[in-house]
Amino acid sequence: MSAQPFSGKKNQSFIWFVCFMAALCGLLFGLDIGVIAGALPFLSKDLNISNHAQEWVVSSMMFGAAIGALGAGWLSSHLGRKKSMLAGATLFVIGSLWSAFSPSVESLIGARVILGLAVGIASYTAPLYLAEIAPERVRGSMISMYQLMLTTGILVAYLSDTALSYSGSWRWMLGVIAFPALILFVGVLFLPNSPRWLAAHGRFNEAQRVLARLRSSDEQAKQELDEIRESLQVKQHGWSLFKSNSNFRRAVWLGILLQVMQQFTGMNVVMYYAPKIFSIAGFSNTHEQMWGTVIVGAVNMLSTLIAVGLVDRWGRKPMLVTSFLIMTVGMGVLGTLLHMGVETPFRQYFAIAMLLMFIVGFAMAAGPVIWLLCSEIQPLKGRDFGITASTTTNWVANMVVGATFLTLLDTLGNAPTFWLYAALNVVFILITIWLVPETRHVTLEHIERNLMQGKALRDIGS
Ligand code: BGC
Repeated sequence: MSAQPFSGKKNQSFIWFVCFMAALCGLLFGLDIGVIAGALPFLSKDLNISNHAQEWVVSSMMFGAAIGALGAGWLSSHLGRKKSMLAGATLFVIGSLWSAFSPSVESLIGARVILGLAVGIASYTAPLYLAEIAPERVRGSMISMYQLMLTTGILVAYLSDTALSYSGSWRWMLGVIAFPALILFVGVLFLPNSPRWLAAHGRFNEAQRVLARLRSSDEQAKQELDEIRESLQVKQHGWSLFKSNSNFRRAVWLGILLQVMQQFTGMNVVMYYAPKIFSIAGFSNTHEQMWGTVIVGAVNMLSTLIAVGLVDRWGRKPMLVTSFLIMTVGMGVLGTLLHMGVETPFRQYFAIAMLLMFIVGFAMAAGPVIWLLCSEIQPLKGRDFGITASTTTNWVANMVVGATFLTLLDTLGNAPTFWLYAALNVVFILITIWLVPETRHVTLEHIERNLMQGKALRDIGS
């Protein structure tokens, strides 16, 4: 078969459409993470609910997300990635409208669980789909684009909360999310199935057709399909592979560890409790706290651009090490400033600068690169299982971090709490050097071959 010239703009814009839609899942993920912070004060007043009930309103989504991520493995392997994303989009629409019209706190908690299910499915399926559909040359950037949309979602939610806070309309804050959810639903209808998923179900002709639309030449598409066929030779999957194959187990444990690391950097402490941290740092005015939170969201989003630009050039591993290092310094110095006392404006602003530096550190790698690595290191036959394990871990760890921060502040004190996170980030630097592979510019099939041949984890990308 002769190589066709690169079919140019048409091909390129199709790839971007595909990636944009999958990344829209990320936007909704972010909107749902960010939206509750601003809505909470108003809805708790309106519905007259206790602190305990507020905690439930917040954490019910993470609970739903953990369940959603667990079920998403089954969904995306049986129905396919595309139909899973459709299911996620449907739940996003239902959950957003339901929460906007909730007459009581119980109903709102129910709606948040539904939203959590949507987020869990989206946070599982979209990165997987992107990793399977993106040409390997830009795979890293595609997944970072997903993270970019996620952080955009958080920022947009902070902004929309701040704007709507003047009218106090929490129902609108929660309800507007139905619009992007609807766009996602319609867009996903036009997406192709993942070629890897099609091949795994014996639908090679369709896989070939999708690849031909996504790759620059028919020859490249054919070559990639051959590689996929080869990696499909191992006829085991999921749980049975986990029980029988120690090489696969290593990948699963690494994925789990990576997500624990991501969450225990302390990032979501800032995402959920930014206003509280601003008040600890001496900013007592609610207005300052609200806009400070918006700045946190903006820095988070903008710094993700660093990842998009560098991840396929500089590589995953050096970026991750740098990321944990920056977070160590950010959390460490912030803790020290709190220990010394933040009475002067200089110290207050210095503390905020450290907080923002921490955000830059997370967003430039730990955020996007860990999702990317988790989708790259799993062999095809066990990929659904492996990513289920790591994504579910992400949500469970997320819940633990979110549910313990205030208790930590109370029991350890402000400064030691931040030092604790700094110390954890030091440990993560060492773990990264010791265990994390460099997967830049290698096909998923190549990584899989190395893993299954028993190469050391840190060498499976070489
Ligand atoms: C993490 C989320 C976090 C977000 C912040 C994601 O990669 O998984 O837990 O809230 O980044 O940008």
